Amino acid sequence: MISKRDFLATAGAGLALAALPKWVLAATNRQTLKMPPLLDATQTGRFELQAGEAEVNFWGRKPTRTWGFNQPYLGPTLRLRNSGSVQATIKNNLNEEISVHWHGLIIPGNVDGGPHQPVAAKGVWTPVLPVEQMPATIWYHSHIHGKTAPQVYRGLAGVIHLTDGQDDARGLPSDYGVDDLTLVLQDRRFDRRGRMIYDPNMPDSMMGFAGNVMMVNGQISPVARVPRGLVRLRLLNASNARVLTLSMDEGRPLHLVGTDSGLLKAPVALKTLVLAPAERAEVLVDFSNAGNGLLVTGPNPNTGMMGGGMMGGRRRNSGLEILPFIVDESLPVRISALPGQIGGSEPDMVSEGAPVRHFSLEMGMGMGGMFRRGGRFSINGKPFRMNRLNQTVKKDVTERWVITGQMMMHPFHVHGVAFQVLSENGRPPQAQNRGWKDTVLVQGQAEILLRFVHAASPEIPYMYHCHILEHEDGGMMGQFSVS
Ligand code: C2O
Ligand code: CU
Ligand code: CU
Repeated sequence: MISKRDFLATAGAGLALAALPKWVLAATNRQTLKMPPLLDATQTGRFELQAGEAEVNFWGRKPTRTWGFNQPYLGPTLRLRNSGSVQATIKNNLNEEISVHWHGLIIPGNVDGGPHQPVAAKGVWTPVLPVEQMPATIWYHSHIHGKTAPQVYRGLAGVIHLTDGQDDARGLPSDYGVDDLTLVLQDRRFDRRGRMIYDPNMPDSMMGFAGNVMMVNGQISPVARVPRGLVRLRLLNASNARVLTLSMDEGRPLHLVGTDSGLLKAPVALKTLVLAPAERAEVLVDFSNAGNGLLVTGPNPNTGMMGGGMMGGRRRNSGLEILPFIVDESLPVRISALPGQIGGSEPDMVSEGAPVRHFSLEMGMGMGGMFRRGGRFSINGKPFRMNRLNQTVKKDVTERWVITGQMMMHPFHVHGVAFQVLSENGRPPQAQNRGWKDTVLVQGQAEILLRFVHAASPEIPYMYHCHILEHEDGGMMGQFSVS
C-alpha cells in the first residue's frame, strides 16, 4: 500500500490528465453546470421522491437507460431542517425493488432505509424522519443487498442539505447554485457509442468498478460559472469505488469547513483533499482575485497490492479533469472574506474504558476466492447474510471500534451515528478526519469512537460496511442492533 504522503505528493504535482476520446473534443461547446433541482422541505415538512426509468443521451450519440428520482438521472437536492420531523414519501415506479437509505441521518433503525426496508416494485414507503443533528451535507441512495452497486450506478442517489438557517452568521455562502454549489462527483465508464456501461469483469469486482470519465451532477465536462468571491463547494464522492484526490490547479487551497456530519470550528487550508466513496466535504474556494480555476483529481491511490494493472491499466488510472470554474462578473458577490471561525464542533470523546470491537475487512485471498466473480468479501471472516446479526450494541455507551483493512484502502461506513476518528495507524488523524464523520477511509488501521443515541432492532438493524459498492454487495458488510 502506498503511504498517504506518497499519494498526496503524486496527486498535487505534474498531474497528467487522461486524454479524452477525439469525438469528445469535437463535441460542441461545454454546457454550464446545473445544480440538481432543489426540493426544499424546510417550510412544508414533507417531500416526495419518485424512482423511475428514463433515457439520457450523455454524449449526444446513443442514449443510456438510466434511473433517477423525480428526474432521469440522480435525484433532487433535499433541503431539510436539521431539527424537526419530516414526512417522506417514496414511490417506486421501477419494476425492481429499491430502498432509500438516508446516509448520514442519525435516525432510528426502523426508518434508516437499509436492506431490510425494500420498497417493492410499484410500491410506496412513507417514513417519518425525526431529524435532530448538526447542519451537514449528507445524501441518500438505494441499499438493496447485492444490488446497491448497479442501482446507485444507474442513478439512484442524491444529496441532502441539513440546515439551521444560520449560514449568514457563520460567513458561509448559502445561495444555492450561485455561491453554494452542490457537486455530485462520479466516475463512469462509457462505450464507443457514448452509452454509460456497467459490466464489471473480475478485476473490477475485486477492486471496485472505476470509470474513465468524471461526471458532475450527471453532466459530462460542464463548466461552473462563479462570482468573484468566496464559493462553497459541497462535494460528494458518489463513485462506486474511486478514491478522489482533489486539488485546484496551481495549488489554490481548498479551505475545508465541513466533513461528513458537520461543520468544523474554523477553516483548514488543504492542497489536496482525499475523498473516498460516500464521503462528503464542504470547502471554500476563493475566486476574488485569482480568476478562473480547475478542479482535478489525481490517479486513484487505491490500487493496493495489485498495482495499476488491476485497475484496468494506466488509461483508467490517470488523473482526471473534473470541473473548470469561470469567474462571471455579473454574478453577485455575497461573501468575499474567508471566515475565521465558523462555530462548528469537533468531536472529543472519552476513549478511556470504552468497550472495544475489532473489525477486519477481508478480501478473500487465495485462488477461487480472489478471482471468483463477486469476490469473497467478508468482515471478521463472515460474509454478510441478511439473516445473521453480527453485533449487539448498547445505546448511549461510547465504544471504540478498531478497523483493519486487507490489501486495499476501504471506506468504512457506520449507519445511525456520527463518529470521531481517534487514530489512523496509531497516529492522530489527518486534518480532514478531525471533524464529525460517518465514513472513514481505512488505510491499514483506523480507530473510531462512537455512541448511538437511537435504537435499531434485530429485525431492522443498522449496517456497517465498506462503501466500495462492489465490496459491500460482495459481502463486506455486517449488521447490528442497538438497544
Ligand atoms: Cu451509504 Cu450503508 O450506506
Ligand atoms: Cu449509511
Ligand atoms: Cu472495501
